Amino acid sequence: MEVIRAGKMGFCFGVREAVELSEALYIKEKNKRIFMLGMLVHNEHVIEDLRKKGIEILEEETVLKNEDDLAEGDIVIIRAHGTIKKIYDRLSEKKVEIHDAACSFVTGIRNTLVEMENKGYDTIFIGDKEHPEVKGIISFGKRVSIFGNLNELKDSGIDRNGRYAVLTQTTLNKNNFEKIREYIYNNFPNAEIFNKICGATFVRQKAAEKLAGEVDLVLVIGGKKSSNTRKLYDISKGINPKTYLVHEPEDIGADWFAGIKKVGITAGASTPEEIIIKIENKLRGIIDV
Ligand code: F3S
Repeated sequence: MEVIRAGKMGFCFGVREAVELSEALYIKEKNKRIFMLGMLVHNEHVIEDLRKKGIEILEEETVLKNEDDLAEGDIVIIRAHGTIKKIYDRLSEKKVEIHDAACSFVTGIRNTLVEMENKGYDTIFIGDKEHPEVKGIISFGKRVSIFGNLNELKDSGIDRNGRYAVLTQTTLNKNNFEKIREYIYNNFPNAEIFNKICGATFVRQKAAEKLAGEVDLVLVIGGKKSSNTRKLYDISKGINPKTYLVHEPEDIGADWFAGIKKVGITAGASTPEEIIIKIENKLRGIIDV
């Protein structure tokens, strides 16, 4: 039996940077209290590992309600998805050291939004308004109209002659983006559209799609709260019914492998390499028996 990895899987650039920043702070700032705002990345193993090092989770709600016990000089790491402006403001008021691990794709969109507003543009934002990344980005704007998808924009009755900067969520599907671009181009003469899509999730999805068609069974490794892991699972399951979502080695069922010759593995953008290796080892144990 063969174990085959997807061509692209595991940590994306933004998640890697956030984890590396936290680990560097832990090594350098032994005498300070260090907190991560919410889940730094959507993987329970990563969070547990950081907690063991003494980096505690600080919930956004706690900061917003002013129920935290933050003191001057404490360190707060902003998670990879970023957060809302009010939290940045609160943290600054408390004179804590803010280390912003928001991914540069996220901060890039945020900065463009602010820049364009300052130039007099309103913002049309297309993305999931419940997603923390989107909540964070749009909180920096004053004149933002948000739409879940192109149809919502089409139905909105928004003034087509306005001056708009059109921005989207980092993970928007590229095909959808092209449709939006075309629609904006044809219907909004004074709009500027920005392509700020991060390719990390897309390339992982494409690799999972390819893998699912080439193996007998697929294991998708990732956190329970990771939406990009769930998406990899859905894509793979649609192609290969023997697709399983696993969080840790213990989730693997020995009876899944009867008659299986090729096992494919893929992992979400916040799944650490250590867990992938542990699962591969467990898999080889099962296979060798
Ligand atoms: Fe950043 Fe893209 Fe990862 S936006 S956090 S590199 S999925």
